[in-house]
Amino acid sequence: MAARPVLRMGDPRLLQVSRPVERFDTPELHALVQDLHDTMAALDGAGIAAPQIGVGLRVVVFGVGRNPRYPEAEEVPATVLVNPVLMPLGEETEDGWEGCLSVPGMRGLVPRYLRLRYTGFDAHGKPVDRTVSGFHARVAQHECDHLDGILYPMRIRDLRQFGFSDVLFPGQELPDE
Ligand code: NI
Repeated sequence: MAARPVLRMGDPRLLQVSRPVERFDTPELHALVQDLHDTMAALDGAGIAAPQIGVGLRVVVFGVGRNPRYPEAEEVPATVLVNPVLMPLGEETEDGWEGCLSVPGMRGLVPRYLRLRYTGFDAHGKPVDRTVSGFHARVAQHECDHLDGILYPMRIRDLRQFGFSDVLFPGQELPDE
């Protein structure tokens, strides 16, 4: 159980489609989830997906608590999602700035569905079924994209809205996903 190195954009493993988890509540799956939590916590991230630590399985964790470093960030409950399925509710999208632990130091403006339902399982195999919106929906979409080999820069519509965090948002610290 430990924070693990995060792969950075350019590593071909970040572009692969991950495999579903077939067995729940195993020591291996619990260890993976713990490593994801530890890695996310060490880097003050808002979320992380298994492929970012080089594990090609459909597992993501995310969550944003109250953090004085990010007073603007909406809270998102601490969540483990295995084999997630996302279902957009409506066509409406919203542009928002994203960062990624695999694209350190950068921010880009990314359109995401405003509302969606997601289902999946926790590491014990217990079903998860939530209807969410806004930042929570954005984080879920960003993390689940990692499972299909998609990094947020691939979704930026206008590359003029992509740059270094400290230039775009001087003096602000923002969580990566
Ligand atoms: Ni990311």
